[in-house]
Amino acid sequence: MEKLITPLSLIPYPQSVERLSGFFVWNRSLKIFPGEFGNEVALFLAGLPVEIRASMVDSEALTQIKFNIDQELANEVYQLIILGEEITITAHNETGVFYALQTLRQLIMSEYQFNSTQIEIQAVHIMDAPRFQWRGFMLDEARHFQGMQTVKDLLDWMAYFKMNVFHWHLTEDQGWRIEIKQYPKLIVIGSSRDASQVSGFLGKQLNTIPHSGFYTQTEIKEIVAYAAERHIQIVPEIEMPGHSQAALAAYPELGCTGGPYQVSPRWGIHSDILCPGKPGTTTFLQNVLTEVLDLFPGKFIHTGGDEAPKTRWKNCPDCQQLARENGVARINDLQTILTNRISQFLDKYGRTLIGWNEMLAEGLDPEAVVQYWVGREKTLLQHIRSGRKAILSNFVAYYLDHGYAHSPLDKVYQYEPVFKQLEPEYHHNILGIETPLWTEFVPNRARLDWQIFPRLLAVAETAWLQPENKDLAGFQQRLPTFLKQLDTKNVGYALFSDANPPVYKRLFGALSLVQAGKGQR
Ligand code: ACM
Ligand code: ZN
Repeated sequence: MEKLITPLSLIPYPQSVERLSGFFVWNRSLKIFPGEFGNEVALFLAGLPVEIRASMVDSEALTQIKFNIDQELANEVYQLIILGEEITITAHNETGVFYALQTLRQLIMSEYQFNSTQIEIQAVHIMDAPRFQWRGFMLDEARHFQGMQTVKDLLDWMAYFKMNVFHWHLTEDQGWRIEIKQYPKLIVIGSSRDASQVSGFLGKQLNTIPHSGFYTQTEIKEIVAYAAERHIQIVPEIEMPGHSQAALAAYPELGCTGGPYQVSPRWGIHSDILCPGKPGTTTFLQNVLTEVLDLFPGKFIHTGGDEAPKTRWKNCPDCQQLARENGVARINDLQTILTNRISQFLDKYGRTLIGWNEMLAEGLDPEAVVQYWVGREKTLLQHIRSGRKAILSNFVAYYLDHGYAHSPLDKVYQYEPVFKQLEPEYHHNILGIETPLWTEFVPNRARLDWQIFPRLLAVAETAWLQPENKDLAGFQQRLPTFLKQLDTKNVGYALFSDANPPVYKRLFGALSLVQAGKGQR
Protein backbone atom coordinates (compact mmCIF):
# COMPACT_ATOMS: atom_id res chain seq x y z
CA MET A 1 0.00 0.00 0.00
CA GLU A 2 2.80 2.33 0.99
CA LYS A 3 4.36 1.80 -2.44
CA LEU A 4 1.30 3.21 -4.17
CA ILE A 5 1.61 6.64 -2.62
CA THR A 6 5.38 7.09 -2.86
CA PRO A 7 6.45 8.85 -6.04
CA LEU A 8 8.54 6.83 -8.45
CA SER A 9 12.24 7.53 -7.96
CA LEU A 10 12.69 9.72 -10.99
CA ILE A 11 14.47 13.05 -11.47
CA PRO A 12 13.31 14.94 -13.45
CA TYR A 13 9.82 13.68 -12.60
CA PRO A 14 7.81 12.87 -15.75
CA GLN A 15 4.81 14.88 -16.90
CA SER A 16 2.42 12.00 -16.49
CA VAL A 17 2.76 8.80 -14.48
CA GLU A 18 -0.03 6.28 -14.36
CA ARG A 19 0.60 3.26 -12.20
CA LEU A 20 -0.65 -0.06 -13.49
CA SER A 21 -0.96 -3.27 -11.55
CA GLY A 22 1.85 -5.76 -11.38
CA PHE A 23 5.61 -5.74 -11.88
CA PHE A 24 8.13 -6.36 -14.58
CA VAL A 25 10.94 -8.60 -13.40
CA TRP A 26 14.31 -7.31 -14.52
CA ASN A 27 17.36 -9.58 -14.54
CA ARG A 28 20.41 -10.33 -16.62
CA SER A 29 18.76 -13.03 -18.69
CA LEU A 30 16.68 -10.40 -20.50
CA LYS A 31 17.33 -9.84 -24.16
CA ILE A 32 17.00 -6.64 -26.11
CA PHE A 33 16.88 -6.28 -29.86
CA PRO A 34 18.08 -2.69 -30.35
CA GLY A 35 17.18 -2.29 -34.02
CA GLU A 36 18.34 1.15 -35.09
CA PHE A 37 18.96 2.21 -31.47
CA GLY A 38 22.24 0.35 -30.95
CA ASN A 39 23.98 3.39 -29.45
CA GLU A 40 21.15 4.21 -27.05
CA VAL A 41 20.72 0.62 -25.89
CA ALA A 42 24.48 0.05 -25.51
CA LEU A 43 24.79 3.13 -23.27
CA PHE A 44 21.74 2.10 -21.28
CA LEU A 45 23.16 -1.37 -20.65
CA ALA A 46 26.62 0.00 -19.81
CA GLY A 47 24.94 2.10 -17.12
CA LEU A 48 23.61 -0.98 -15.29
CA PRO A 49 25.59 -3.08 -12.80
CA VAL A 50 26.89 -6.30 -14.39
CA GLU A 51 24.70 -8.57 -12.23
CA ILE A 52 21.62 -7.15 -13.92
CA ARG A 53 23.00 -6.23 -17.31
CA ALA A 54 20.76 -7.64 -20.02
CA SER A 55 22.22 -8.55 -23.41
CA MET A 56 21.64 -7.36 -26.93
CA VAL A 57 20.37 -9.87 -29.45
CA ASP A 58 19.93 -9.64 -33.20
CA SER A 59 16.50 -11.18 -33.39
CA GLU A 60 13.35 -9.18 -32.83
CA ALA A 61 11.51 -12.35 -31.86
CA LEU A 62 13.52 -12.65 -28.63
CA THR A 63 13.24 -9.10 -27.36
CA GLN A 64 11.52 -8.00 -24.14
CA ILE A 65 11.80 -4.29 -24.91
CA LYS A 66 9.99 -2.98 -27.97
CA PHE A 67 10.79 0.29 -29.72
CA ASN A 68 8.31 2.21 -31.83
CA ILE A 69 8.84 5.37 -33.79
CA ASP A 70 5.89 7.74 -33.93
CA GLN A 71 6.60 10.80 -36.03
CA GLU A 72 3.52 12.52 -34.61
CA LEU A 73 5.25 12.90 -31.26
CA ALA A 74 7.39 16.01 -30.81
CA ASN A 75 11.17 15.72 -30.90
CA GLU A 76 12.08 14.80 -27.31
CA VAL A 77 8.77 13.36 -26.20
CA TYR A 78 8.66 9.71 -25.17
CA GLN A 79 6.23 7.16 -23.87
CA LEU A 80 7.35 4.29 -21.67
CA ILE A 81 4.92 1.48 -20.91
CA ILE A 82 6.03 -1.16 -18.46
CA LEU A 83 3.79 -4.21 -18.21
CA GLY A 84 4.34 -7.56 -16.53
CA GLU A 85 5.56 -9.23 -19.72
CA GLU A 86 7.19 -6.49 -21.74
CA ILE A 87 8.34 -2.91 -21.97
CA THR A 88 7.37 -0.64 -24.86
CA ILE A 89 9.07 2.60 -25.75
CA THR A 90 7.59 5.01 -28.26
CA ALA A 91 9.26 8.20 -29.44
CA HIS A 92 9.68 10.52 -32.39
CA ASN A 93 13.34 9.59 -32.83
CA GLU A 94 16.42 8.28 -31.06
CA THR A 95 16.58 11.22 -28.65
CA GLY A 96 13.22 10.27 -27.16
CA VAL A 97 14.29 6.63 -27.06
CA PHE A 98 17.44 7.67 -25.22
CA TYR A 99 15.40 9.55 -22.59
CA ALA A 100 12.94 6.68 -22.18
CA LEU A 101 15.90 4.39 -21.52
CA GLN A 102 17.31 6.83 -18.95
CA THR A 103 13.95 6.79 -17.18
CA LEU A 104 13.97 3.01 -17.23
CA ARG A 105 17.54 2.98 -15.91
CA GLN A 106 16.51 5.28 -13.04
CA LEU A 107 13.61 2.96 -12.18
CA ILE A 108 15.92 -0.06 -12.17
CA MET A 109 18.67 1.69 -10.19
CA SER A 110 16.23 2.91 -7.55
CA GLU A 111 15.36 -0.70 -6.69
CA TYR A 112 18.89 -2.02 -7.02
CA GLN A 113 20.68 -3.14 -3.88
CA PHE A 114 24.31 -4.21 -3.84
CA ASN A 115 24.55 -7.57 -5.65
CA SER A 116 20.85 -7.75 -6.56
CA THR A 117 20.23 -10.17 -9.37
CA GLN A 118 16.53 -9.57 -9.79
CA ILE A 119 14.55 -6.34 -9.65
CA GLU A 120 10.82 -5.74 -9.67
CA ILE A 121 9.81 -2.64 -11.57
CA GLN A 122 6.36 -1.20 -10.96
CA ALA A 123 4.10 -1.53 -14.02
CA VAL A 124 3.48 1.97 -15.23
CA HIS A 125 2.53 4.17 -18.16
CA ILE A 126 4.77 7.23 -18.46
CA MET A 127 4.31 10.08 -20.92
CA ASP A 128 6.98 12.71 -20.84
CA ALA A 129 8.00 15.95 -22.55
CA PRO A 130 10.52 18.61 -21.52
CA ARG A 131 9.49 22.13 -20.61
CA PHE A 132 12.58 23.65 -22.26
CA GLN A 133 14.56 22.60 -25.32
CA TRP A 134 17.74 24.08 -23.76
CA ARG A 135 18.76 22.32 -20.55
CA GLY A 136 22.29 23.43 -19.98
CA PHE A 137 25.25 23.19 -17.67
CA MET A 138 28.36 25.36 -18.07
CA LEU A 139 31.84 24.42 -16.92
CA ASP A 140 34.61 27.00 -16.66
CA GLU A 141 37.82 25.11 -17.36
CA ALA A 142 39.85 28.27 -17.80
CA ARG A 143 40.17 29.31 -14.16
CA HIS A 144 40.87 25.73 -13.18
CA PHE A 145 41.47 23.02 -15.73
CA GLN A 146 39.59 19.87 -14.73
CA GLY A 147 40.47 17.43 -17.51
CA MET A 148 38.82 14.87 -19.77
CA GLN A 149 37.72 12.31 -17.16
CA THR A 150 35.85 14.92 -15.12
CA VAL A 151 34.17 16.25 -18.25
CA LYS A 152 33.08 12.77 -19.31
CA ASP A 153 31.75 12.00 -15.84
CA LEU A 154 29.74 15.22 -15.87
CA LEU A 155 28.37 14.43 -19.33
CA ASP A 156 27.25 11.04 -17.98
CA TRP A 157 25.36 12.66 -15.12
CA MET A 158 23.86 15.29 -17.41
CA ALA A 159 22.54 12.56 -19.70
CA TYR A 160 21.12 10.62 -16.75
CA PHE A 161 19.17 13.74 -15.72
CA LYS A 162 18.18 14.52 -19.33
CA MET A 163 20.20 17.70 -19.75
CA ASN A 164 21.29 18.37 -23.30
CA VAL A 165 23.67 21.34 -23.56
CA PHE A 166 27.23 21.39 -22.25
CA HIS A 167 28.54 24.96 -22.46
CA TRP A 168 32.31 24.75 -22.31
CA HIS A 169 34.05 27.93 -21.15
CA LEU A 170 37.50 27.44 -22.66
CA THR A 171 39.24 30.83 -22.73
CA GLU A 172 39.87 33.43 -20.06
CA ASP A 173 42.29 35.95 -18.61
CA GLN A 174 43.76 33.09 -16.57
CA GLY A 175 44.17 30.48 -19.30
CA TRP A 176 43.50 29.38 -22.89
CA ARG A 177 42.50 25.71 -22.97
CA ILE A 178 41.92 24.71 -26.59
CA GLU A 179 44.60 23.92 -29.15
CA ILE A 180 44.40 26.18 -32.21
CA LYS A 181 46.86 24.98 -34.84
CA GLN A 182 47.28 28.30 -36.58
CA TYR A 183 48.15 30.06 -33.30
CA PRO A 184 50.39 27.67 -31.32
CA LYS A 185 51.35 30.29 -28.74
CA LEU A 186 47.79 30.23 -27.39
CA ILE A 187 48.83 26.94 -25.82
CA VAL A 188 52.60 27.39 -25.48
CA ILE A 189 52.12 30.65 -23.59
CA GLY A 190 48.39 31.03 -22.93
CA SER A 191 47.64 27.73 -21.18
CA SER A 192 49.93 28.25 -18.15
CA ARG A 193 50.05 30.70 -15.29
CA ASP A 194 52.56 30.99 -12.46
CA ALA A 195 50.19 31.48 -9.54
CA SER A 196 46.56 31.83 -8.51
CA GLN A 197 44.73 34.29 -6.31
CA VAL A 198 43.67 32.76 -3.02
CA SER A 199 41.64 33.99 -0.02
CA GLY A 200 38.57 35.17 -1.88
CA PHE A 201 37.67 37.67 -4.60
CA LEU A 202 38.86 40.58 -2.49
CA GLY A 203 42.04 38.88 -1.30
CA LYS A 204 45.28 40.18 -2.73
CA GLN A 205 47.22 37.07 -1.83
CA LEU A 206 48.66 34.79 -4.53
CA ASN A 207 49.86 31.24 -4.04
CA THR A 208 53.03 30.08 -5.78
CA ILE A 209 51.51 27.07 -7.51
CA PRO A 210 51.71 27.08 -11.32
CA HIS A 211 48.52 26.00 -13.08
CA SER A 212 48.22 24.76 -16.65
CA GLY A 213 46.25 22.49 -18.95
CA PHE A 214 44.62 22.36 -22.35
CA TYR A 215 42.80 20.06 -24.74
CA THR A 216 44.35 18.97 -28.02
CA GLN A 217 42.04 18.96 -31.00
CA THR A 218 42.07 15.15 -30.92
CA GLU A 219 40.86 15.22 -27.31
CA ILE A 220 38.19 17.79 -28.16
CA LYS A 221 36.87 15.53 -30.93
CA GLU A 222 36.72 12.62 -28.49
CA ILE A 223 34.70 14.67 -25.99
CA VAL A 224 32.37 16.08 -28.67
CA ALA A 225 31.65 12.52 -29.87
CA TYR A 226 31.16 11.31 -26.28
CA ALA A 227 28.60 14.06 -25.71
CA ALA A 228 26.83 13.44 -29.03
CA GLU A 229 26.31 9.77 -28.15
CA ARG A 230 24.55 11.02 -25.04
CA HIS A 231 22.40 13.45 -27.04
CA ILE A 232 24.28 16.43 -25.60
CA GLN A 233 25.34 19.35 -27.74
CA ILE A 234 28.58 21.07 -26.77
CA VAL A 235 28.63 24.85 -27.07
CA PRO A 236 32.24 26.09 -26.92
CA GLU A 237 32.88 29.55 -25.56
CA ILE A 238 35.69 31.64 -27.02
CA GLU A 239 35.56 34.89 -25.06
CA MET A 240 35.77 38.28 -26.75
CA PRO A 241 36.57 41.09 -26.37
CA GLY A 242 37.01 40.84 -22.57
CA HIS A 243 38.41 38.02 -20.45
CA SER A 244 41.09 37.58 -23.12
CA GLN A 245 44.33 38.31 -21.33
CA ALA A 246 45.74 34.82 -21.91
CA ALA A 247 45.31 35.35 -25.67
CA LEU A 248 46.97 38.76 -25.35
CA ALA A 249 49.90 37.24 -23.44
CA ALA A 250 50.42 34.98 -26.46
CA TYR A 251 49.72 37.59 -29.16
CA PRO A 252 50.24 41.05 -27.60
CA GLU A 253 49.71 42.79 -30.94
CA LEU A 254 45.96 42.12 -30.51
CA GLY A 255 45.74 44.51 -27.53
CA CYS A 256 45.36 48.30 -27.59
CA THR A 257 48.73 49.00 -25.95
CA GLY A 258 50.72 46.13 -27.46
CA GLY A 259 51.59 44.74 -24.03
CA PRO A 260 53.47 42.97 -22.65
CA TYR A 261 50.69 41.00 -21.00
CA GLN A 262 50.67 38.11 -18.57
CA VAL A 263 48.38 35.08 -18.24
CA SER A 264 46.67 36.48 -15.19
CA PRO A 265 47.01 34.92 -11.73
CA ARG A 266 44.16 37.16 -10.48
CA TRP A 267 40.39 36.79 -10.75
CA GLY A 268 37.93 39.54 -11.55
CA ILE A 269 37.60 41.98 -14.42
CA HIS A 270 40.70 42.94 -16.41
CA SER A 271 41.16 46.18 -18.35
CA ASP A 272 43.36 44.71 -21.07
CA ILE A 273 40.98 43.32 -23.66
CA LEU A 274 41.13 42.65 -27.40
CA CYS A 275 41.49 45.77 -29.57
CA PRO A 276 38.77 45.86 -32.22
CA GLY A 277 40.68 48.64 -34.04
CA LYS A 278 43.66 46.44 -34.92
CA PRO A 279 43.05 44.86 -38.32
CA GLY A 280 44.60 41.62 -37.06
CA THR A 281 42.00 41.12 -34.34
CA THR A 282 39.05 40.22 -36.53
CA THR A 283 41.28 38.01 -38.68
CA PHE A 284 42.61 36.28 -35.57
CA LEU A 285 39.11 35.66 -34.23
CA GLN A 286 37.82 34.39 -37.56
CA ASN A 287 40.79 32.06 -37.97
CA VAL A 288 40.39 30.74 -34.44
CA LEU A 289 36.67 30.23 -34.99
CA THR A 290 37.28 28.45 -38.29
CA GLU A 291 39.13 25.74 -36.36
CA VAL A 292 36.49 25.80 -33.62
CA LEU A 293 33.72 25.27 -36.18
CA ASP A 294 35.53 22.22 -37.51
CA LEU A 295 35.66 20.73 -34.03
CA PHE A 296 32.15 21.57 -32.82
CA PRO A 297 29.35 20.63 -35.23
CA GLY A 298 26.52 22.14 -33.15
CA LYS A 299 24.57 25.18 -34.24
CA PHE A 300 25.67 27.49 -31.42
CA ILE A 301 28.99 29.18 -30.68
CA HIS A 302 29.37 31.30 -27.53
CA THR A 303 31.56 34.38 -27.78
CA GLY A 304 31.31 35.72 -24.24
CA GLY A 305 30.89 39.48 -24.40
CA ASP A 306 30.56 40.03 -20.64
CA GLU A 307 32.60 42.29 -18.40
CA ALA A 308 34.58 44.12 -21.08
CA PRO A 309 35.71 47.53 -19.70
CA LYS A 310 36.42 50.04 -22.45
CA THR A 311 39.24 51.81 -20.57
CA ARG A 312 41.93 50.94 -23.11
CA TRP A 313 39.67 51.52 -26.12
CA LYS A 314 39.10 55.11 -25.02
CA ASN A 315 42.82 55.88 -25.27
CA CYS A 316 43.64 53.81 -28.34
CA PRO A 317 44.18 55.56 -31.72
CA ASP A 318 43.14 52.41 -33.61
CA CYS A 319 39.90 52.14 -31.65
CA GLN A 320 39.24 55.86 -32.21
CA GLN A 321 39.74 55.42 -35.92
CA LEU A 322 37.39 52.44 -36.09
CA ALA A 323 34.80 54.52 -34.25
CA ARG A 324 35.18 57.37 -36.76
CA GLU A 325 34.98 55.05 -39.77
CA ASN A 326 31.77 53.55 -38.47
CA GLY A 327 30.30 56.82 -37.30
CA VAL A 328 29.75 55.55 -33.75
CA ALA A 329 29.34 58.18 -31.10
CA ARG A 330 30.36 56.10 -28.11
CA ILE A 331 33.45 53.95 -27.94
CA ASN A 332 31.36 51.31 -26.14
CA ASP A 333 29.50 50.70 -29.39
CA LEU A 334 32.62 49.18 -30.91
CA GLN A 335 31.65 46.02 -29.04
CA THR A 336 28.49 45.82 -31.14
CA ILE A 337 30.53 46.27 -34.31
CA LEU A 338 32.86 43.45 -33.31
CA THR A 339 30.02 41.16 -32.19
CA ASN A 340 28.10 41.75 -35.43
CA ARG A 341 31.18 40.99 -37.54
CA ILE A 342 31.61 37.70 -35.73
CA SER A 343 27.91 36.93 -35.78
CA GLN A 344 27.78 37.45 -39.55
CA PHE A 345 30.90 35.35 -39.97
CA LEU A 346 29.28 32.50 -38.01
CA ASP A 347 26.06 32.92 -39.95
CA LYS A 348 27.94 32.22 -43.22
CA TYR A 349 28.64 28.76 -41.81
CA GLY A 350 25.10 28.24 -40.61
CA ARG A 351 25.99 28.89 -36.97
CA THR A 352 24.47 31.21 -34.39
CA LEU A 353 26.30 33.43 -31.93
CA ILE A 354 25.43 33.41 -28.23
CA GLY A 355 26.69 36.09 -25.86
CA TRP A 356 26.22 37.13 -22.24
CA ASN A 357 23.67 39.88 -21.75
CA GLU A 358 26.21 42.73 -21.56
CA MET A 359 26.40 42.53 -25.36
CA LEU A 360 22.78 43.70 -25.69
CA ALA A 361 22.64 47.00 -27.55
CA GLU A 362 20.70 48.75 -30.22
CA GLY A 363 21.95 47.56 -33.57
CA LEU A 364 23.03 44.13 -32.34
CA ASP A 365 22.39 41.40 -34.91
CA PRO A 366 18.84 40.22 -34.11
CA GLU A 367 19.88 36.60 -34.65
CA ALA A 368 22.40 36.70 -31.78
CA VAL A 369 21.10 34.72 -28.80
CA VAL A 370 21.46 36.28 -25.36
CA GLN A 371 22.40 34.41 -22.21
CA TYR A 372 21.08 36.37 -19.24
CA TRP A 373 22.96 36.27 -15.95
CA VAL A 374 22.67 39.67 -14.28
CA GLY A 375 21.73 43.28 -14.85
CA ARG A 376 18.90 45.17 -16.41
CA GLU A 377 15.88 42.96 -16.90
CA LYS A 378 14.12 45.77 -18.70
CA THR A 379 16.61 45.80 -21.57
CA LEU A 380 16.53 42.03 -21.75
CA LEU A 381 12.74 41.92 -21.86
CA GLN A 382 12.67 44.49 -24.68
CA HIS A 383 14.96 42.28 -26.71
CA ILE A 384 12.93 39.16 -25.99
CA ARG A 385 9.70 40.91 -26.93
CA SER A 386 11.22 42.03 -30.21
CA GLY A 387 12.07 38.43 -31.04
CA ARG A 388 15.53 37.77 -29.65
CA LYS A 389 16.06 34.27 -28.27
CA ALA A 390 17.30 33.96 -24.71
CA ILE A 391 18.83 31.46 -22.32
CA LEU A 392 18.29 32.18 -18.63
CA SER A 393 21.06 31.78 -16.08
CA ASN A 394 20.11 34.22 -13.34
CA PHE A 395 23.23 34.30 -11.19
CA VAL A 396 21.38 34.54 -7.89
CA ALA A 397 19.70 31.20 -8.46
CA TYR A 398 21.77 29.28 -10.97
CA TYR A 399 25.47 30.01 -10.36
CA LEU A 400 26.76 26.73 -8.96
CA ASP A 401 29.93 28.40 -7.68
CA HIS A 402 27.86 30.13 -5.00
CA GLY A 403 27.87 28.70 -1.51
CA TYR A 404 24.82 26.83 -0.27
CA ALA A 405 24.13 29.50 2.32
CA HIS A 406 23.64 31.89 -0.59
CA SER A 407 21.92 29.48 -2.98
CA PRO A 408 20.41 26.65 -0.93
CA LEU A 409 19.12 23.57 -2.71
CA ASP A 410 15.47 24.24 -1.84
CA LYS A 411 15.67 27.82 -3.16
CA VAL A 412 17.34 26.67 -6.36
CA TYR A 413 14.61 24.08 -6.80
CA GLN A 414 11.80 26.56 -6.23
CA TYR A 415 13.22 29.29 -8.42
CA GLU A 416 11.04 30.10 -11.44
CA PRO A 417 13.41 31.16 -14.22
CA VAL A 418 10.95 32.87 -16.57
CA PHE A 419 10.27 36.51 -15.69
CA LYS A 420 6.78 37.17 -14.33
CA GLN A 421 6.59 40.34 -16.43
CA LEU A 422 7.10 38.44 -19.68
CA GLU A 423 3.81 37.97 -21.47
CA PRO A 424 3.06 34.35 -22.47
CA GLU A 425 3.12 35.19 -26.20
CA TYR A 426 6.89 35.76 -25.89
CA HIS A 427 7.71 32.63 -23.89
CA HIS A 428 8.68 30.77 -27.05
CA ASN A 429 11.71 33.10 -27.27
CA ILE A 430 13.07 31.56 -24.08
CA LEU A 431 15.13 28.62 -25.31
CA GLY A 432 15.67 27.39 -21.80
CA ILE A 433 17.91 27.51 -18.77
CA GLU A 434 21.53 26.88 -17.94
CA THR A 435 23.44 26.50 -14.69
CA PRO A 436 27.09 27.65 -14.80
CA LEU A 437 29.98 26.58 -12.62
CA TRP A 438 32.74 29.20 -12.51
CA THR A 439 35.89 27.73 -11.04
CA GLU A 440 37.98 30.48 -9.46
CA PHE A 441 37.57 28.64 -6.15
CA VAL A 442 37.16 25.14 -7.55
CA PRO A 443 40.72 23.82 -7.76
CA ASN A 444 39.89 20.11 -7.51
CA ARG A 445 37.34 17.39 -8.08
CA ALA A 446 36.13 17.27 -4.48
CA ARG A 447 35.19 20.93 -4.55
CA LEU A 448 33.66 20.61 -8.00
CA ASP A 449 31.40 17.73 -6.93
CA TRP A 450 30.35 19.59 -3.82
CA GLN A 451 29.36 22.74 -5.72
CA ILE A 452 27.48 20.92 -8.48
CA PHE A 453 25.67 18.16 -6.60
CA PRO A 454 22.87 17.94 -5.73
CA ARG A 455 21.91 21.36 -7.14
CA LEU A 456 22.30 20.11 -10.72
CA LEU A 457 19.35 17.77 -10.09
CA ALA A 458 17.14 20.65 -9.00
CA VAL A 459 17.96 22.58 -12.17
CA ALA A 460 17.43 19.50 -14.34
CA GLU A 461 13.96 19.05 -12.86
CA THR A 462 13.14 22.73 -13.44
CA ALA A 463 14.32 22.40 -17.05
CA TRP A 464 12.04 19.44 -17.66
CA LEU A 465 8.94 19.74 -15.51
CA GLN A 466 6.15 22.28 -16.07
CA PRO A 467 6.14 24.78 -13.18
CA GLU A 468 2.71 23.72 -11.91
CA ASN A 469 3.98 20.15 -11.49
CA LYS A 470 7.07 21.05 -9.50
CA ASP A 471 6.94 19.84 -5.92
CA LEU A 472 9.74 20.50 -3.42
CA ALA A 473 8.58 17.86 -0.93
CA GLY A 474 8.39 15.26 -3.69
CA PHE A 475 11.85 16.23 -4.94
CA GLN A 476 13.27 15.90 -1.44
CA GLN A 477 11.62 12.52 -1.06
CA ARG A 478 13.07 11.27 -4.35
CA LEU A 479 16.55 12.70 -3.78
CA PRO A 480 18.09 10.15 -1.34
CA THR A 481 17.95 7.33 -3.91
CA PHE A 482 20.03 9.46 -6.24
CA LEU A 483 22.47 10.47 -3.50
CA LYS A 484 23.08 6.77 -2.94
CA GLN A 485 23.83 6.37 -6.64
CA LEU A 486 26.21 9.35 -6.51
CA ASP A 487 27.90 7.61 -3.56
CA THR A 488 28.56 4.49 -5.60
CA LYS A 489 30.47 6.66 -8.10
CA ASN A 490 32.32 8.50 -5.30
CA VAL A 491 30.73 11.85 -6.11
CA GLY A 492 31.36 14.16 -3.14
CA TYR A 493 28.01 15.98 -3.15
CA ALA A 494 26.91 18.39 -0.43
CA LEU A 495 25.01 16.55 2.30
CA PHE A 496 21.35 17.45 2.69
CA SER A 497 21.99 19.52 5.84
CA ASP A 498 24.81 21.49 4.14
CA ALA A 499 22.76 21.95 0.98
CA ASN A 500 19.77 23.28 2.98
CA PRO A 501 21.41 25.34 5.73
CA PRO A 502 19.43 26.80 8.64
CA VAL A 503 18.03 30.33 8.44
CA TYR A 504 20.79 32.03 10.43
CA LYS A 505 23.42 30.68 8.03
CA ARG A 506 21.37 31.86 5.05
CA LEU A 507 21.23 35.39 6.47
CA PHE A 508 25.03 35.60 6.58
CA GLY A 509 25.36 33.57 3.38
CA ALA A 510 23.52 36.24 1.45
CA LEU A 511 26.45 38.56 2.21
CA SER A 512 29.06 36.26 0.75
CA LEU A 513 28.61 34.49 -2.54
CA VAL A 514 31.50 32.13 -2.14
CA GLN A 515 31.61 29.69 0.70
CA ALA A 516 35.33 29.16 0.88
CA GLY A 517 37.14 26.10 2.12
CA LYS A 518 34.57 23.35 1.58
CA GLY A 519 36.14 20.76 -0.58
CA GLN A 520 35.52 17.54 1.21
CA ARG A 521 32.57 16.00 2.87
C1 ACM B 1 29.62 36.21 -15.99
O1 ACM B 1 29.33 35.69 -14.90
N1 ACM B 1 30.57 37.13 -16.04
C2 ACM B 1 28.94 35.84 -17.22
ZN1 ZN C 1 42.29 49.54 -29.38
